[in-house]
Amino acid sequence: MTEVSKNTVFYEIERAYEYLQEKLSGREKPILGLVLGSGLGDFAENITDPFVVSYSDIPDFPTSSVEGHKGCFIFGRIGEVPVVCMQGRVHYYEGYTMQKVVMPVRLMCKLGIEKLILTNASGGIRDDLDPGDLMIITDQITSFVPSPLIGPNYEAGPRFPDMSNVYDTDLVEKIKAAASDCGVEVKAGVYLQTTGPNYETPAEIRLYKALGADAVGMSTTVEAMAAVHAGVKVAGISCITNKAAGLSDTHLSHEDVQSTADKAKAGFTKLLLKTIEII
Ligand code: HPA
Repeated sequence: MTEVSKNTVFYEIERAYEYLQEKLSGREKPILGLVLGSGLGDFAENITDPFVVSYSDIPDFPTSSVEGHKGCFIFGRIGEVPVVCMQGRVHYYEGYTMQKVVMPVRLMCKLGIEKLILTNASGGIRDDLDPGDLMIITDQITSFVPSPLIGPNYEAGPRFPDMSNVYDTDLVEKIKAAASDCGVEVKAGVYLQTTGPNYETPAEIRLYKALGADAVGMSTTVEAMAAVHAGVKVAGISCITNKAAGLSDTHLSHEDVQSTADKAKAGFTKLLLKTIEII
């Protein structure tokens, strides 16, 4: 085991890594990581020769209490590409530290993935973003949540990493190309992460809009930062499940978020399959 102090998340990553290495022995190394957000977990059905590892079986691994988030890694292939897929993620609002929230992503990076696709459900702030739309994330605002990089520097990357191209430009272009290839409409925009678990107030949404946010949600930006820090290329696709607070008459609920994500499933699946084929 690499020398890291005990009782730290870095030590827990080492232990989880060793556990997975043993479980996976003889299996192909994943080169692409996928995180499936609220209501989007069924995409994992597209993985061939799946090998499932429950988060609850991995030492020190954080597990989610949220409806619609299953809680396992699935290793296998999508088409020709060896993947590791997270069916469910953990969130800051569940009470984990940000370091713990990004532990799963750091673990996938340590397993050797070269690219990571993050997905989520979000509220649309920009006028043209409606429930059911898919939005390629082109940049992010992470200023309203603590950085996951606070604390001693994790050995995977530099102390002061550059964040000027969090969502890899080449991957963004490839997702656009995949969308036009498979006839799925996509939009593009800036995603802002809040701590949650409450949805925003209309005044907060006006603030975020003024700051340049197009969509808002409770995940993703910190995972993207951890992956970029580790030198992994990141892409993000957000499923707009509702108009953000104050922009429509409907009350926001997790059930509606999940059911709208479910309705967007067909387009989301088509887009992601095509994207994975060409990246
Ligand atoms: N706000 C925050 N998170 C969300 C939303 C929202 O409107 N919709 C889905 N996740």
